[in-house]
Amino acid sequence: INEPIGSSLLPIINKLQENASLIGSEITLPQIIVVGSQSSGKSSVLENLVGRDFLPRGSGLVTRRPLVLQLYQTTRNSNIDQLQEQENEEDDNNNNTINDDIDEEWGEFGHSGTKKFNFKEIKEEIERETERIAGPNKDISSEPIVLKIYSPKVIPLTLVDLPGLTRVAIEDQPPNIEEKIKSMIINHISNPNSIILAITPANQDIVTSDALKLAQEVDPLGKRTIGVLTKLDLMDKGTDAIDILLGNSIPLNLGFVGVVNRSQQDILNKKPIEKMLVDESKWFDQHPVYNRITNQLGTQYLAQKCSKILTRHIRDTFPSVKNQIRHLIKKYESDLEKYGEPIPLRVSEKSRLLFDILNEFSRKYRADLDGTNEELVLNEFNG
Ligand code: GDP
Ligand code: NA
Ligand code: MG
Repeated sequence: INEPIGSSLLPIINKLQENASLIGSEITLPQIIVVGSQSSGKSSVLENLVGRDFLPRGSGLVTRRPLVLQLYQTTRNSNIDQLQEQENEEDDNNNNTINDDIDEEWGEFGHSGTKKFNFKEIKEEIERETERIAGPNKDISSEPIVLKIYSPKVIPLTLVDLPGLTRVAIEDQPPNIEEKIKSMIINHISNPNSIILAITPANQDIVTSDALKLAQEVDPLGKRTIGVLTKLDLMDKGTDAIDILLGNSIPLNLGFVGVVNRSQQDILNKKPIEKMLVDESKWFDQHPVYNRITNQLGTQYLAQKCSKILTRHIRDTFPSVKNQIRHLIKKYESDLEKYGEPIPLRVSEKSRLLFDILNEFSRKYRADLDGTNEELVLNEFNG
């Protein structure tokens, strides 16, 4: 799960995301959105995909703001990385709060500049930030928390965790909480570049799954919805979900994946994710029914499936993303002409950075799609 995936395009999307300040909100990049009812296992699935513990968890409404999780696979020695580092260094001069114990893997938040957090601090900061905007009780806010995780081990993806659907308002929740959460979810999954992980606990009635119902509203053909069945271990004795997993009961283009996450007790016992992955495989291997389809079950399979589908998505949306980048470069170039020294140096650097990304994008895209007619962008711009 923690290995770089075979796709050549995902790292490019990652670089675009890393340079969000350059592309602004003008380009809609592909992302994976986790949707489901409260306590269905959304945060668990997300965390397992990342392979680290960092999300606040528990029964009830714990996730009360959207969490946009950008995973950056750290690599060294590319021009783009060096440029990025220069920019970071400049920022660091203003905000010098780096911890020493986080060389390899760390997190940064959109709201706290370049300050680096370890995974325990990340969890605390999410809780603090949730309370700061959504209040100390059970209300929600649609203002997202942006968390970037830098690690050599992650798959470069953007994942979004959302509050779970709830039926009745409790404590200080506004009476329209259900509508509020629902529209927040619809708002996110309407992005045609998003892939929906519709999380459904297997120990509840799957046919009435909130996640699947919502996904169907925005993706009626099921082209970008993956069904995820959690809590297979909590189903009544003698029952199983094999018909759903095999696609015999609920039709879904991209199919269903079954997983066994850590229980609340496992979390209290601080069971590591590595151990969970081993136990999950073992559980499927030893199961009298699921053992026949172990090659299409589990967290690792889900991670691969996400990457594959996301890659296909990126490929399909490539021409439009490319045009959007091209447009941005033109804008930078014209800015360059407008301003006098010393700004041009800065602008041309940015333009060059985008330009490099675009080139790499085009090259890898061509390599990915044999025989495509995509022109090398470099020629277009130099010619
Ligand atoms: P969320 O509210 O949808 O984000 O759900 P969480 O991921 O926070 O999980 C809710 C509770 O269900 C936690 O106590 C988890 O430990 C537990 N849980 C989630 N998935 C599973 C699973 O597959 N098996 C078991 N036994 N417990 C699970
Ligand atoms: Na929860
Ligand atoms: Mg959650």
